[in-house]
Amino acid sequence: MIGAQWGDEGKGKIIDVLAEHFDVIARASGGANAGHTVVLGKEKHVFHLLPSGCLHEGKDIVLGSGMVLHLPTLLEEIHVLREKGIDVVPHLFISPAAHIVCAYHKELDALSEERRTQTKGEGIGTTRRGIGPAYTDKTARSGLRMELLWENAKTIRETLKQRMDEVKSLYHIDVHLEEEYDAVLAAKKLLERRLMTNMVDCIFSFLAEGKTFLLEGAQGTLLDIDHGTYPHVTSSSTTASGALQGLGLPPQAMTSCIGVAKAYCTRVGGGSFSTEVFGKVAERLRKRGGEYGATTGRPRRCGWLHLPSLQYAALLNGFTHWNITKIDVLDGERVVSVGVGVDRRGNVQYEELPGWEGSADVRAWEKLPKLAQKYLHFIERATGVPVAFVGTGERRGEMVVKGL
Ligand code: IMP
Repeated sequence: MIGAQWGDEGKGKIIDVLAEHFDVIARASGGANAGHTVVLGKEKHVFHLLPSGCLHEGKDIVLGSGMVLHLPTLLEEIHVLREKGIDVVPHLFISPAAHIVCAYHKELDALSEERRTQTKGEGIGTTRRGIGPAYTDKTARSGLRMELLWENAKTIRETLKQRMDEVKSLYHIDVHLEEEYDAVLAAKKLLERRLMTNMVDCIFSFLAEGKTFLLEGAQGTLLDIDHGTYPHVTSSSTTASGALQGLGLPPQAMTSCIGVAKAYCTRVGGGSFSTEVFGKVAERLRKRGGEYGATTGRPRRCGWLHLPSLQYAALLNGFTHWNITKIDVLDGERVVSVGVGVDRRGNVQYEELPGWEGSADVRAWEKLPKLAQKYLHFIERATGVPVAFVGTGERRGEMVVKGL
């Protein structure tokens, strides 16, 4: 399940719906920059590190090697679920190669943003969750990994101290050894036994047992470090191949890949957004779509669908199906615009489709307004990918399943 835009496509909901049919639910990359929202009855659950599919009890839950884990956030998420009567710990399988996000990563993230704003006039608009600096440590081969939890308290303290001293002398910032030590010890106590000794062996034993995997992509294709709108991207691989890499699965293990795209488009943070709208239309989309960041609460920039991006994401990820989300948010628009290309001067060219009413809470394809169906067919034709799921509201059942 891969986001086709700039994240926030509404992956949480489809993952929660489909998780029921899978044995193993996995996250492969990214960290607590993600915010996957699931609405159950009147309650809203936002997941940052655990896959949103874990609301289905008894599923095996994998946190893959490509992830960066902020331990206090992970422990808090586990705790909140426990309070709701769901204990995920016995079902967790964590890669010892996943990296640990420390407080200093967050501090460096904030400092880099401030520096960029001073020198370039604007930052990337990161979530300030320390993601960039944690992946920097990883690629510089100086990061701390979850395997640290296997060490005894003395070695943990020494290892942390060594890293903190390096950080202090490199970046001249305050470090918080005791805070990091407490976080690692608390995580050790709860999660040491949940680290897989060998991630690849573990994944393959699941496959050998005939278990099926649902990979929960985080962020979106256009935020991919290699293929996204660099430098306004995140620091991980957000594509399907990135998910396979982050988990340690061979490409042929992927039997289908569902691209998740909003029926319109949003973005948080800086960077290009050619179909962005302002004023009343933007306000309407933001209000009706509840377009505020699940992690940071920032108002999201809103705009129309951009077909070339969906075509790009479909090719790059090998999408076999679409989940088009939040079609109900467009209810009542007289005209729905879609960016289809650019003219010679570089201005976006739009195609205008007639709007519709009454797609909210529809649960069957034939009950969708004809003009909404036409819009979805338009996406199918332009991308060559069939629509399998259509989101028609926030809650679990508010979805059209057109077929796989
Ligand atoms: P970072 O991942 O916190 O470094 O942020 C880099 C860029 O990716 C910023 O524009 C963020 O707003 C964006 N971003 C990161 N994670 C998400 C997400 O889960 N949803 C939407 N945007 C995200």
